Amino acid sequence: MGTDARLAAECLRRGGLAALPTETVYGLGADATNAVAVSRIFTVKGRPADHPLIVHLADARQVRSWARQMPAYAQLLAAAFWPGPLTLILPKLPEVLDIVTGGQDTVGLRVPAHPLMHEVLEHLGRGVAAPSANRFGKVSPTAIEHVLADIGNLLGTDDYLLDGGPCAVGVESTIVDCTGSSPRLLRTGAVSVEMIEQTTGLAVLGADGRIRASGTLASHYAPTATVHIVKAEDVNSASVGAGLIASAAVRTPAGMVRLLEAADHGEYARNLYAALRRSDELGLRDVIAVLPEDAGLGSAIRDRLQRAAH
Ligand code: TXA
Ligand code: MG
Repeated sequence: MGTDARLAAECLRRGGLAALPTETVYGLGADATNAVAVSRIFTVKGRPADHPLIVHLADARQVRSWARQMPAYAQLLAAAFWPGPLTLILPKLPEVLDIVTGGQDTVGLRVPAHPLMHEVLEHLGRGVAAPSANRFGKVSPTAIEHVLADIGNLLGTDDYLLDGGPCAVGVESTIVDCTGSSPRLLRTGAVSVEMIEQTTGLAVLGADGRIRASGTLASHYAPTATVHIVKAEDVNSASVGAGLIASAAVRTPAGMVRLLEAADHGEYARNLYAALRRSDELGLRDVIAVLPEDAGLGSAIRDRLQRAAH
């Protein structure tokens, strides 16, 4: 473990794995052109092999080494939001490894904004395949300590943990499928539907292909505690001993454990996963969560909490 981006890049070049900081969450990276290294990611994560990985790039010029084509609206999105918390799904070139794409005809690409991660990518000069650095189905890590706790014992001396401090965004990137004639939202994130529509001038479709309505997918991102979504006015009648996740406008009733008290959506997102992890550390049975408004980053927070509550 350390803060040396060059050591992390050298580790990847030799076929090792590296835990890498990004502005969204920590990733577990491998050289995306090394099938043996990439396959180890699945072992360490305990993740099914047909789940595709995001390929991280140093800059948008590298897209042409991975994608067959990029529609005009995807180019607008890349120009507006890269480097940043946005992943674009594009038709892949034939040489992109099946283990990276889950055998699909598409590849997910992202240019992350974290300066240390950028240094790694520049130094390596290749794409880095990286899912979030947690065990499959668990909450994503937003600090190197979370990575250590989840998978530290599964990494070897040839691997590297790059400490880039706490993640600035705190929830995973927005994923936009760019294989059709208009953008399709596969995962909410800090780049909101409103921002995508403004940038492209196109209506955003939901995961089902229809014009997007909020919140859809199944359980994921779940702590051990049972998460209950509660309206602000009902927090007082919730169970004693439960953890509470809400904006600062919601007071903590006597007997509840405050896990998160956010002044705004940015702070809410940044601290959300650490709060869910803390509920497990404290051995809480129940977590009460009050959702933020369904707009901007608030939509991504709602999505993750609704999944955690599923
Ligand atoms: O913010 C993030 O996106 C973080 C950081 C490390 O970049 N990464 C991340 O990776 O969240 P992961 O593997 O935990 O989630 C990636 C999601 C998965 O749900 C996967 O199914 C989807 O991206 N994905 C990747 N490639 C895809 C593709 N070709 N088609 C459809 N979905 C894809
Ligand atoms: Mg993940």
